[in-house]
Amino acid sequence: MCVPVTDGPVTLLVVDDEESIRNSLRKFLVQQGYEVATAAGGEEALTILQRQRITGMLLDVNMPGISGVELVPRIMELEPTIALLMLTAVNDATSAALCMQRGALDYLLKPIDLGHLGRAIHHALQRRHTFLEGQQINQWLKDEVAARVAERRLEQANQERISVATLEALVNALEAKDPYLRGHSARVADLSAMVAAQLGSPDEQIEAVRTGGRLHDIGKIGIREEILNKQGPLTPAEYEHVKQHVTVGSQILAPLVHLKDVIGFVRSHHERWDGTGYPDRLAGEAIPLGARIIGAVEIYDALTTARPYQERMTPEAAVERMRELSGTVIDPAVHHALQASVAQKQALVFLDDARV
Ligand SMILES: [Fe+2]
Repeated sequence: MCVPVTDGPVTLLVVDDEESIRNSLRKFLVQQGYEVATAAGGEEALTILQRQRITGMLLDVNMPGISGVELVPRIMELEPTIALLMLTAVNDATSAALCMQRGALDYLLKPIDLGHLGRAIHHALQRRHTFLEGQQINQWLKDEVAARVAERRLEQANQERISVATLEALVNALEAKDPYLRGHSARVADLSAMVAAQLGSPDEQIEAVRTGGRLHDIGKIGIREEILNKQGPLTPAEYEHVKQHVTVGSQILAPLVHLKDVIGFVRSHHERWDGTGYPDRLAGEAIPLGARIIGAVEIYDALTTARPYQERMTPEAAVERMRELSGTVIDPAVHHALQASVAQKQALVFLDDARV
């Protein structure tokens, strides 16, 4: 793998209060092929650093005004990757060492041996290059890991969608056999989502309720067909068998960990507000809200769809009839929201009709 370090031209800044030193260093460095800027003091050096991109710097330790030692941290703040070399007199090695602690890469003793200077600059630039390369590799690795994680998440979301879609297809196939049940789960899903929204649920919860609505009766796959399709009243034993669809449904969905809330809705959609429902005899708010909504909407859908044993009711009549169940079978708040949602739906139907 090759990670190019984009560096551009190498510009060195020579900072020394003695003009003769600045000039001779500039001359030598230009001969070596570098672009060179010079500054006579610390303030000027900082101004240049703010204005142009400097790759490396030769900095005199001992200058009037801001000293080299004070300057180093300010330089490193402006240009953290700069290759910084200190120029120092023989008797000031301590200051030079301090500068290196603060980020300088090397120091050269005055008078400067130009051959040594050439090698020191080359070496410092090399170290800077290696450092930048390391930084770029780190960044590349971070980007790569982030991209893989995003890819994996997308893949997982797709798989989750596919698994739900497969289960929905199964429910549709189950309902298609029975003309009275056809479309039941899809209708329950849409109206339940409206009720959840009416109750102020966040978007994620609304979608979980919608999925719960679509899958709430999936457990009927495990119920014997002759009982499922029986036209007359069920015997107590048959009723017990039908009741199992809530536990069978939650068991079918159990491996789909992303459907955790939905599984609760499926299991509890036949619980009753007064605690006399099944399978866990939960009461009141111990029943997950999504299950309370789906349970109420399921009753509404049964009342408003023609069944062999009953005429279909109008939406308004069904909501009115369900008022009798509010506080016993149905959560009163859910009944209230259902009433508002049905009214809203009816208004939309009216608008659509008017448009036709
Ligand atoms: Fe059910």
